[in-house]
Amino acid sequence: MKVLMVCLGNICRSPLAEGILKHKVQNLGLDWLVDSAGTGSWHVGELPDRRSIAVAKKYGIDITDQRARHFKPKDLDAFDLILVMDRDNYSDVVRQAKTELQKEKVQLIMNFVYPNSQTIVPDPYYDNRFELVYELLNEASDALIAHYSK
Ligand code: 4NP
Repeated sequence: MKVLMVCLGNICRSPLAEGILKHKVQNLGLDWLVDSAGTGSWHVGELPDRRSIAVAKKYGIDITDQRARHFKPKDLDAFDLILVMDRDNYSDVVRQAKTELQKEKVQLIMNFVYPNSQTIVPDPYYDNRFELVYELLNEASDALIAHYSK
């Protein structure tokens, strides 16, 4: 399974999503590829936000090897699943899909926990809700593994 986590800046939510899912699949010995990217390019090359680094560290996960990168259309072929955090990420990515198969790969990550609910992972950049983001992504990672490692 090749999974790409996508948010706006690739510094807050998707680096946490990448770190949490990687940590779980490594512990389970699953051969998954997990990466992340942003629909915006302002933070390309940067480390994750210090608040994401801190909340990950609190739960024993090191995400300081990550650097932000920009989502590219080729990602729609390279990955099996493109998991987005909110509606804006969804429309920004789906707009670049050229085939139905590519479009079907793009899903709101929280739909794995609450199917068809359109629940989002809110942007914590201004309101500091990194703990909430961690909890949502932790739940989503468990649901993803349960769904695909049957
Ligand atoms: P992210 O959060 O999409 O979860 O990485 C954001 C990071 C930076 C900005 C917005 C959201 N920004 O406007 O720079």
